[in-house]
Amino acid sequence: MENKKQIKPILEICNVSKDFSGVYALRNIDMQIFPGMVTAVIGENGAGKSTLMKIISGVHQQYKGNVWLKGEATSFKNPKEAAEKGVVIIHQELNLIPHLSITENLFLGNEITGKSGLLDYAQMHKKAKELLTRLHLNINSRTAINQLRVGQQQMVEIARALLFDSKVLIMDEPTSAISDQEVELLFKIINDLKTRGVAVVYISHKLNELFEIADRYEVLRDGQKVGSGLMMDTNHDQLVKMMVGRDLASVLNKDQHCDGDELLRLENLCLQNPENKRDYLVDGVNFSLHKGEVLGVCGLMGAGRTELLEAIFGLHPKYVSGKIFIENKPIKISNVNDAIKAGLALVPEDRKLQGLIMNMDVEKNTSLACLNKVSRYNFISRKKEKALSRSYINSLNTKVPSPNIEVNKLSGGNQQKVVIAKWLATNPKILLLDEPTRGIDVGAKIEIYKLINDLAKQGMGIVVVSSELPEILAVSDNILVLSESKLTGEFSRSEASEEILMHAALIEKE
Ligand SMILES: Nc1ncnc2c1ncn2[C@@H]1O[C@H](COP(=O)(O)OP(=O)(O)OP(=O)(O)O)[C@@H](O)[C@H]1O
Ligand SMILES: [Mg+2]
Repeated sequence: MENKKQIKPILEICNVSKDFSGVYALRNIDMQIFPGMVTAVIGENGAGKSTLMKIISGVHQQYKGNVWLKGEATSFKNPKEAAEKGVVIIHQELNLIPHLSITENLFLGNEITGKSGLLDYAQMHKKAKELLTRLHLNINSRTAINQLRVGQQQMVEIARALLFDSKVLIMDEPTSAISDQEVELLFKIINDLKTRGVAVVYISHKLNELFEIADRYEVLRDGQKVGSGLMMDTNHDQLVKMMVGRDLASVLNKDQHCDGDELLRLENLCLQNPENKRDYLVDGVNFSLHKGEVLGVCGLMGAGRTELLEAIFGLHPKYVSGKIFIENKPIKISNVNDAIKAGLALVPEDRKLQGLIMNMDVEKNTSLACLNKVSRYNFISRKKEKALSRSYINSLNTKVPSPNIEVNKLSGGNQQKVVIAKWLATNPKILLLDEPTRGIDVGAKIEIYKLINDLAKQGMGIVVVSSELPEILAVSDNILVLSESKLTGEFSRSEASEEILMHAALIEKE
């Protein structure tokens, strides 16, 4: 039993239901959120977590049931009003304006003005600087958001939430894109907020994190609440069982491959830093990838993992030097079309910016990179498009109310599955995956590992970049480690362990 006699909830959710055009996302939810505690809200992709958070933070105003804040019924007109009352949300999808500076983004809608009524930039930059220092972000606050890595952008989102004097702070997958050091820092900040009596609501698919940071849990499954309690009274397997409603096979029976012909070879591949010609983001990388091989790439944030994939895929042609061979033929890749023609596909890290057209439906997004496959005489066959997207919805187990729903209406994890489908549909020889399971729930993760294994079995060569070492160890035949833009380790699966990989990831340039 939970012992919460002494503490009164600050936020109470009573019998809340929400539908989108008749399709229920939440049904009869009751939940209590306590001050000075971290409540983990967990559930599979599409379970309704973000929708519930959007209801309590004023994003969705139409719903059934009641939400009480300190005993008063809330009916926030918008997120700004919710924030003013102390309910602040850090969204799962980044909500920053790319060409504006960090400071401008931090104070957007809450600008500081001087006596004359003009914007007080000096004051805003000063506050921004203090916040960035508190978050150990060593960046000038005048830097534009689009100059930052995804992880840094996520830290800016967190910084923005800290500007408010929040009573309830909701974090919807705050750690999906940040490094371990940043996570550690975030947890310090959360603990500090807790001691100040803030109620933190924390959503994450990384269950290990929850055992570290959360006090209580609330589980949603298919829009319904299926359990709640204290973290110290439960364990990993119990939580997973509650989330998915069954026991999960948590291990992947990986097949051994990689004695096939060579598919891809890099010789001294370099990527110059466009901002600073003397600096290299990828520095003299050599490797070869064979048919049926899964090559894992790990390294710390900023080690050059994403940049390596982007360099191969032709996203920075002006700055790349060195040689790329595909099936032993030298090849020049100057743009995405060249890359697709050469049999490459890249599932990018940042799905919002590079992977999907958010206001287009699932069907059209799926066929986007392989229109020739669904067209005849230059006309797109809607029937073929439909069949294509259906087959991937089935094989990836994507939760969509209809294939004609806009992707921005899907849950985060299901959007990721649409990105994967889009690139698989090009039927590549070589698949480059950048953080393929970011935001994906425990059950679907295993599905994706199985998929990687099956594709390799069929002869595809796959490069997987991941910051989760257990993931790298689960899927790879061979593993490369990058540190400060250089290759610092190469291991076969049997030689590698988390410790060995971490050690190589920490090797510094002389
Ligand atoms: N604006 C919308 N229009 C239509 N359906 C929506 C909309 N927003 C969410 N949904 C649907 O509501 C359901 C719950 O989505 P929600 O985003 O709350 O899931 P989630 O638990 O946050 O999942 P994830 O872990 O993948 O982020 C999904 O089926 C989703 O497609
Ligand atoms: Mg979500």
